[in-house]
Amino acid sequence: MVQDTPVAVINAGGNIFAWDNRCPHRGASLGDGHITDTTVQCKFHLWEFDIKRECAVANDAIKIKSFPVEIIEGEIFVKI
Ligand code: FES
Repeated sequence: MVQDTPVAVINAGGNIFAWDNRCPHRGASLGDGHITDTTVQCKFHLWEFDIKRECAVANDAIKIKSFPVEIIEGEIFVKI
């Protein structure tokens, strides 16, 4: 949590992403989902999200809120 925002820090094949941890469908934790190198699948109703495009695989209009990530000397910094 950062203030009132739940944040999922995702390691997808060695690439680090930070997303709002609330699934756009019904708010389940995306960080608890199934993560591959290219997608995150919500565990509740199995919606799938494209990591690079930051949207649902089946519908580009369903966006994921993401935050910039910076890695400095092995530490991960998320800009909220
Ligand atoms: S809450 Fe994520 S797919 Fe329904």
